[in-house]
Amino acid sequence: MPKVFIAGSIQLCAFIILIGVVWLLPLFIQPPFNPLYLALLMGAVALALSWVFKLPSWWFLLQFIFPISMYWALNANITPLVSLGVFIAIWLFFSNSFKNRVPLYLTNSVTREALLATLKGREETKFLDLGSGLGGNVVLLSQQSQVAQSVGVETAPMPYLVSKLYTFFAGGEIWAKDLWKMELNEFDVVYAFLSPEPMEALWQKVLAEMPINSLFISNSFAVPDIEASEIWALPDQRETHLYLYNLRDFK
Ligand SMILES: C[S@@+](CC[C@H](N)C(=O)[O-])C[C@H]1O[C@@H](n2cnc3c(N)ncnc32)[C@H](O)[C@@H]1O
Repeated sequence: MPKVFIAGSIQLCAFIILIGVVWLLPLFIQPPFNPLYLALLMGAVALALSWVFKLPSWWFLLQFIFPISMYWALNANITPLVSLGVFIAIWLFFSNSFKNRVPLYLTNSVTREALLATLKGREETKFLDLGSGLGGNVVLLSQQSQVAQSVGVETAPMPYLVSKLYTFFAGGEIWAKDLWKMELNEFDVVYAFLSPEPMEALWQKVLAEMPINSLFISNSFAVPDIEASEIWALPDQRETHLYLYNLRDFK
């Protein structure tokens, strides 16, 4: 289930719990109750439930501030145009969360170091990041002596613009192309950090298009029912696993 639905359901539960609290509270404290304290309480309950339901930790702050922001927006009589603006900004960054069920989150520095280690023994490598986010991997790889070409494809508007600008100054190439329309046969190392959702279909594409001596790497999401050539458990905080598929093991 998409995390955004879990987060929304948690907010709903927190609201129902808050109604219960407000109903019971007059037994102990004389009303009226300060609505800011109620919003803080709802935020705290949402935060606790997010932990119980194992949402990724970067959701915690969002979950806590959501009821407080609602209170603040209602109180400040904010024009609906602001909400529309916020919605558009979110869409520009995260449109692929809604369309492809692949959100924007970034490869961390420990994983990037491991990514560099996968290049060992390769020369004139052509690297491709499928869904390249803000372009950090593409830039880093473009700066390695054994990399001949470093390309990222990205379709979410803001990440595309940001990464296009970043690579213009720092190296690498970003193409505004849907990853499903990308020909993989030109690339020696293809990296994906997507979600469990596309992995099965992506594997079929990888098998059909990638050459025999190439390497497919998936950050965190294994291809279902296929044993990876290697699995690297990384010493970072989120205990990242890199799944390495040497195409020669599968052709
Ligand atoms: C989890 S982020 C990873 C970003 C980057 N690869 C990294 O590791 O830092 C996944 C990215 O894939 C992009 N994406 C999702 N579906 C895509 C598609 N069909 N074509 C191109 N990009 C896509 C999203 O917009 C998002 O930026």
